Amino acid sequence: MKLLVTGGAGFIGSNFIRHLLHAHPDDRVVNLDKLTYAGNPANLADVEGDPRYSFVHGDICDAKCVRDAARNVDAVVNFAACTHVDRSLVEPDEFLRTDVSGVFTLAGGRARPQDPAPAARQHDEVYGSIAHGSSTEQDPLHPSNPYSASKAGGDLLALSYWHTHGVPVVITRSSNNFGPYQYPEKVVPLFVTNALDHAPLPLYGDGRNVRDWLYVLDNCAAIDLVLRRGRDGEIYNIGGGHEVENIVLTREILRLTARPDTLIRPVADRPGHDRRYSVDSTKIRQLGWAPRHPFASALETTVRWYQEHETWWRPLKSGEFRAWYERQYGNR
Ligand code: TYD
Repeated sequence: MKLLVTGGAGFIGSNFIRHLLHAHPDDRVVNLDKLTYAGNPANLADVEGDPRYSFVHGDICDAKCVRDAARNVDAVVNFAACTHVDRSLVEPDEFLRTDVSGVFTLAGGRARPQDPAPAARQHDEVYGSIAHGSSTEQDPLHPSNPYSASKAGGDLLALSYWHTHGVPVVITRSSNNFGPYQYPEKVVPLFVTNALDHAPLPLYGDGRNVRDWLYVLDNCAAIDLVLRRGRDGEIYNIGGGHEVENIVLTREILRLTARPDTLIRPVADRPGHDRRYSVDSTKIRQLGWAPRHPFASALETTVRWYQEHETWWRPLKSGEFRAWYERQYGNR
C-alpha cells in the first residue's frame, strides 16, 4: 500500500509510521504534518533516510496541500489532531479547526470526494464518562469537554461522508495511549519526566479517576488491522483492558523511577474531569486483535525509554511547554 499518514510527526503517528515500515516492507508512506508544538521531526529521525518514507510540511485544513499529498495513495490515516484536554479548556479554537475542519478537508471538503479512505483515528472520550461497564460502538456519544466534543464532531462528519458520498471511512476509538515519544504534557510522560527531575507530580482532584491504558504499539497494530481488514463505515473500539486509578499509576511511576511518594502534589481538579473511561473491544478482538504488551512491562519499558532519551524530552520541557506549565499548574 501507499499511505498518506497525517500528523505522522506526533506521538501515535510516528509510532504508527515506524510500525508500518517494519511490518510491511513493501508499503510506502507520505507523512503530512504541520509541525505544531506536538509534532516533532526528531520522532522519526531513524526513518528519515528510508526511501519508502517522505515528509510534506503542511496543514490538514489546507485543501490543496491535502490533495497534492494524497495523490496516488491507497488510504489516508489521520492522526493530525489537537489532543490535550487541559489545552482545550483554555484555547478551544484550534481544536475545532483541526479536529473538525481538518477531518472535513480530509474527507473531501466541498469537492465531490473521490478515492482516498480516511481511517480517522479517534478517542474513547467521545463516549464520555462511564461509571460501570464499558462503552460499545453503538453507544450514544456524550463528550464532555471541548477536546472530546471536537473529536466527536470530526467522527460524525467523517461517517456522514461515507453515508452521503460513499467515502470509505473507518473510525477507531482507542483508550488512553502511553509509550515512547509522547509529548510530556500527558500524564504518563509528564509524571515520568517530573519524577526524573525530582519535581512534584501534579495529581488532579482525589486521584481516583480511572483510565484504561493502552500501549501505543498495540494501538498501532490495531489501526493497521482495521485499515486492511475493517469494514467501511464501521467504528472499532480499541481498549487496553487495563484500568487504573491515577493515584495507582502515579505510585507505580514513582516506584519505577525510584522516587518517594512525597513527590505527589494533589492539585485542584480539572474542570469537568471525566471520572472513568472504558471501551468494549469485543468487535476488534473478533477481527483478530488483542493487546500484546502487558501493562506492567510496557510501563517499565516506557519509563526506561524516557530515562534513556533525556535529549529527546529535555528541550520539549523548556520554551513553549515551560510557559504552558506555569500557567496551567502555577496557581493550583
Ligand atoms: P491525560 O494524560 O491528560 O489524558 P486524558 O485527559 O485524555 O485522559 O490525563 C490522564 C489522567 O490523568 C486524567 O484523569 C487527568 C489526570 N492528570 C493529572 O492528574 N494531572 C496532570 O497533570 C495531567 C496532565 C493529567
